[in-house]
Amino acid sequence: MRNYVGAVQRFAFERLAAAIDRRWNNDPLGSRIRASKEEYLRLFEIARRVEYPEIDRLEADTGFAIDREWLDNLALHTQITIKKSTLAYPHGRVLYSLLRRELASNPRPFTTIVETGTARGFSSLCMAKALQDASAAGHIITLDVLSHNHRFYWNCIDDHGGRKTRAELLKPWQSLSDRIVFLQGDSLVQLPKVGVNRIHFAFIDAQHTTKNVLLEYRAVSELQLAGDVIVFDDVTPGQFDGVVEAIEQIERQGQYGMRRLVASDTRAYAWGTRRR
Ligand SMILES: C[S@@+](CC[C@H](N)C(=O)[O-])C[C@H]1O[C@@H](n2cnc3c(N)ncnc32)[C@H](O)[C@@H]1O
Repeated sequence: MRNYVGAVQRFAFERLAAAIDRRWNNDPLGSRIRASKEEYLRLFEIARRVEYPEIDRLEADTGFAIDREWLDNLALHTQITIKKSTLAYPHGRVLYSLLRRELASNPRPFTTIVETGTARGFSSLCMAKALQDASAAGHIITLDVLSHNHRFYWNCIDDHGGRKTRAELLKPWQSLSDRIVFLQGDSLVQLPKVGVNRIHFAFIDAQHTTKNVLLEYRAVSELQLAGDVIVFDDVTPGQFDGVVEAIEQIERQGQYGMRRLVASDTRAYAWGTRRR
């Protein structure tokens, strides 16, 4: 009897989760093209010229820097959007640099990376490039409420070619996308079910609330061992205080050695390396 009730509850829960996911399949980012190609290009030119001396220092320190021409081209298609906040994509450099260092320090047959908050796939592709450039075997499992296989406008320059799936948007980076498993769903529901027994490197970039960041951290940290790394985006006081608060709590717990990097007034990151 208990088994039967459990099965009914699981079935109802799966149906509800699927219904919630379907909400995100129909033009979740808007039902029209937001700007001309020229406007996206103008915004791109501004964003790509910004310098980040702290990130230059990180790259010098790790000895690994992403190919900037490659990064800028990817950013034009996946980071340049119409939004109120400043456009910036230095997290691609941070992720690449940290992951390359992690791979070099801990050679292993296969590396598992998990990301929450895929969006258009920018950060996943930067991490896939790190794997490729390091000639390392591995995969990236990335989660978002947004579908990978439904066509919609992505609020980016490629919208001028019509509605696309994320898979279509990322076609030019197919060999890297092949290393990525794109999952749709709420990270709090899906993360505990990703089905891996170790997460060597993680990037937390979905919902920027204290509760979500802490729950995602908990799910990841249960699958990490000494030396594994977890990176947090937008640890920016005054802008994402919920994330800042979560990082302070994580630091107080002492399981991870935490580092912070302030790239600009609007962009700051933190990462933890598992102590034990
Ligand atoms: C800041 S964007 C991620 C940017 C991406 N990492 C990049 O570098 O391009 C946040 C993403 O998280 C997704 N998201 C927000 N809350 C979520 C949740 N609870 N579960 C899964 N995805 C979520 C949003 O749909 C959005 O695409």
